[in-house]
Amino acid sequence: MCGIVGYVGARDCTEVLLNSLSKLEYRGYDSAGIAVLENDEIRTCKAQGRLANLEVKIKQAGGMSGHCGIGHTRWATHGEPSDINSHPHGNAIVSIVHNGIIENYKILKERLEKKGYTFISQTDTEIVAKLLDHYYNGDPIEAIRKTEAKIEGSYALGILFRDFPNTVYAMRNDSPLIVAKGDGEAFIASDVPAVLQYTKEYYLLESGEIAILKDGVPSFMTLDGEPIEKELLVANWDMESAEKGGYEHFMLKEIHEQPTAIKTTITPRIIDGMPNIEECGVTPEMLRDFSNIFVVACGTAMHAGLVGKYVIEKIARVSVTVDVASEFRYRSPIISPNDLVILVSQSGETADTRAALRLAKEQGAKTLAIVNVKGSSIAREADFVLYTHAGPEISVASTKAYMVQIAVFYLIAFELAYVKGKISEEECCRLTKELTNVPKFIDVILSQKDNCQYVASQLVNSENLLYIGRGLDYALSMEGSLKLKEISYIHSESYAAGELKHGTISLVTEHMPVIAVVTQRDLFDKTISNVKEVKARHAKTFIVTHQYINIDNDVADYKIGIPTIDDLLMPMLAVVPLQLIAYYTSVLRGNDVDKPRNLAKSVTVE
Ligand code: G6P
Repeated sequence: MCGIVGYVGARDCTEVLLNSLSKLEYRGYDSAGIAVLENDEIRTCKAQGRLANLEVKIKQAGGMSGHCGIGHTRWATHGEPSDINSHPHGNAIVSIVHNGIIENYKILKERLEKKGYTFISQTDTEIVAKLLDHYYNGDPIEAIRKTEAKIEGSYALGILFRDFPNTVYAMRNDSPLIVAKGDGEAFIASDVPAVLQYTKEYYLLESGEIAILKDGVPSFMTLDGEPIEKELLVANWDMESAEKGGYEHFMLKEIHEQPTAIKTTITPRIIDGMPNIEECGVTPEMLRDFSNIFVVACGTAMHAGLVGKYVIEKIARVSVTVDVASEFRYRSPIISPNDLVILVSQSGETADTRAALRLAKEQGAKTLAIVNVKGSSIAREADFVLYTHAGPEISVASTKAYMVQIAVFYLIAFELAYVKGKISEEECCRLTKELTNVPKFIDVILSQKDNCQYVASQLVNSENLLYIGRGLDYALSMEGSLKLKEISYIHSESYAAGELKHGTISLVTEHMPVIAVVTQRDLFDKTISNVKEVKARHAKTFIVTHQYINIDNDVADYKIGIPTIDDLLMPMLAVVPLQLIAYYTSVLRGNDVDKPRNLAKSVTVE
């Protein structure tokens, strides 16, 4: 989704803005622009497409130099991607960049048109620029306050006023924004990685607060003009973690970071060999007493919830319902104060997941967030938070965040099963120990990547693909299928292996490769029968299963063998080849692996 940056300080502002925007590219965007205060004038340059296009345009315009400016990467919502619709929007007096959606823009536009304003873009953002201009009477804060009173929706805004040359203003409602502080310089950004190359110190701007970055020094006030003292935070992510570090793509780097991410996430939550999540405020007694569990999330995070469901229900015997966050409220879920609603989100900003969180709170349930980004909205709004310690995930296609989300679900499941008396202390310790063994087995899989490269070479020209599995393998195959379609653009579906024959098998021909995940040994024979069914219809079959299990050639065209651990934990291993198959297929198809078309990393609109 859109990325915002802003800078005030001694450095060349254009360079800082472009550098910082490049660190937000991962969020997904289709155009970019900057506005710089140069010799008491606001100069703007915008371009459709990648940042490189913007850089060329800036050069063609003779460069832009100054020490105060704002920048933006846009992911189109209102109006197609184009130079005109790109941000910043404004005029000679005021210029803005915006992330979010102004819901009442139509009515505001009509009113402004009646006052004589004309509009050149199709964006909701231009309305905010015109409103600021309308209310500006020499006092930026008053203009911001009056504008804020009129607009509805979610927004983070960076604002420049021509008459205040060394100042960037910022305001937000819902959409995230940080204000970072360097030595005599200050920044605004949608996300911490944008500024890590300059500083690690930052403030979280809250809804209804205004930030003023004057002469490189940030200060804050309420909309009523009351000064606010804010806590200065220090990012625990370093620059290297937001760089590719020798890998061709962030996605490949992040796949390789999974063993470390698991260790960092689970180690502090294992005490005397037993899982312990009390750090988040959920005591063993509270955990034991919840009646039902709901998991609500989007995309990959929702798939992590599905693995969580299978594992919790299997060993703790507590009912778990998993919902796609965007649908949660429409089915009027029956939630009671005795229930636990778990929100899973890498970014902690996903609008649909936030909306679900609010609904759960309204209904009195306790809410637990499993979130990767510290201080993000979902983390702050939920009753309890368990942070996953994956470090920054830059690739749009999520890999290491999924891995640590499921690691956290395993910890919850083991503790819950123990406190419910469903497993003994000894069994709980054994399972927890087995979880700590996962990283070393992932390293083994990562040393055999050529298997996955081969499978990718067999899939690269396919137009359709099926993933099948049963039980936990089915939950996992959904993530495998999503990964592939996100980045390779091959249409793929994941099917419960046993359900295939009830309709979808009619699609199976020699042109429909099938990837079967077969790690649950109690379901092995049944799933293999389903593989035979597709094989009999000439599908090419690829099977992900235990290394030691032999599969006949007349069943599998190719087998990817993975090490064996407790079947319950096999998804943590089996997902790695699925991630790698998606990755290599995307590479072979020449796609932009880390920034797949139309997708955004942090989806802040509903
Ligand atoms: C977007 C991303 C997905 C991600 C989903 C949920 O659609 O492209 O990769 O899984 O949002 O994001 P979250 O930050 O809430 O985990």
